[in-house]
Amino acid sequence: MSDGGTSRTSGFERGEARKAAEGLSYLSGFGNEHASEAVPGALPEGRNAPQRAPLGLYAEQLSGTAFTEPRAQNRRSWLYRIRPSAAHPAFTRTGNGAVRTAPFTETVPDPNRLRWNPLPEPPAGTDFLAGLWTVGGNGDVAQRTGMAVHLYHANSSMERVFSDADGELLIVPERGGLLLHTEFGRLHVEPAHVALIPRGVRFRVELLDDSARGYVCENYGAPFRLPDLGPIGANGLANARDFRAPVAAYEDVTGPVEVVNKFCGNLWTAVYDHSPLDVVAWHGNHVPYVYDLRRFNVIGTISYDHPDPSIFTVLTSPSDTPGLAGVDFVVFAPRWLVGEDTFRPPYFHRNVMSEYMGLVEGAYDAKAEGFVPGGGSLHNMMSAHGPDQETFERASAAELRPHKIDDGLAFMFETRWPVTLTPQAAHADHLQQRYDDVWRGLEPHFRAL
Ligand SMILES: [Fe+2]
Repeated sequence: MSDGGTSRTSGFERGEARKAAEGLSYLSGFGNEHASEAVPGALPEGRNAPQRAPLGLYAEQLSGTAFTEPRAQNRRSWLYRIRPSAAHPAFTRTGNGAVRTAPFTETVPDPNRLRWNPLPEPPAGTDFLAGLWTVGGNGDVAQRTGMAVHLYHANSSMERVFSDADGELLIVPERGGLLLHTEFGRLHVEPAHVALIPRGVRFRVELLDDSARGYVCENYGAPFRLPDLGPIGANGLANARDFRAPVAAYEDVTGPVEVVNKFCGNLWTAVYDHSPLDVVAWHGNHVPYVYDLRRFNVIGTISYDHPDPSIFTVLTSPSDTPGLAGVDFVVFAPRWLVGEDTFRPPYFHRNVMSEYMGLVEGAYDAKAEGFVPGGGSLHNMMSAHGPDQETFERASAAELRPHKIDDGLAFMFETRWPVTLTPQAAHADHLQQRYDDVWRGLEPHFRAL
């Protein structure tokens, strides 16, 4: 992990920040044409780029999709800012810390089932960016395909600003609240919530607790969207109205501000003479969101068997093949299990997709032990997995009364390509050495009649 750009924050400041975070208001609805102004009259009416933008602001478009992509997928926002983004000095390379980017070629893809304990404590003064640590990924960032799995572990707020030209960032906190200061305004995210920062949007992360830990899916491909619902109907799974976008808020700050830009796998830095979080008003649909995973409307069987876990998809990044996601974000939220004559934990399976799982809190119903909050597991394409021996025995003998699973929140980044590890993940001290053992003891019970 690299050092830099951080300072210590007092408990009083943290308390003030938390108060501010909890008092934030939001705009509602995924994919909406949102509009917000921090100063009345800052947003032009009836046009995007008037000859003179209101209040002496600069008008600027930020594209999340090509100009020509179909209307239903098109993402862009108009920003009205104190200075245009173009007003900055040259960027120069800086250390990449523990951040790595596709194509991942430093290890060979591993067919083994793998599981990690949480990241160790970082050195004091580690901010969100310095605390980013790449597990692995797939695709090719220059082709805008694939994804990366990162972890973060930080103990200091960012005093610098970050943006990722390589993809959008789905932040899944596991420990510690965050106040995200973005170009579009501020977002408060806690464990059991997620934040989605679109490609190219600048932000800095303020910690609301002494430390912060969690997961990040960096999606190089098509922006995450809500999955189609098919026969489910017009409602259900993650409801669009539960995604909350910020209201405009700006920093009118003059003085040196470090801005770090991730571009084609490398970190580049420039010291601006102002804060780039200076957007006074904006409108559009290329915006950051927060979402409370407990709002997920879980749909499952009310007769027998399980629907496949795709029924738990919160967001999907489609690829060029219909139904085949570059990456899905899937949540295993609290839910009732009522299936009759059904093996209720997740079934044994081999999946053509590759699965990275994390745990936000509690336990996961397919594993009796060893899968802990902040840890993760990787079951690459076609690797055989499912409940461990203890879970299998218990679930096979259980009396099938209605039962609520409400002691855990697990999630999955599921991707069409195998995840290739970084060397730091492949050789980490916190990689569990005996994960395969959870499936030992699954003895044959077969008896020919
Ligand atoms: Fe699986």
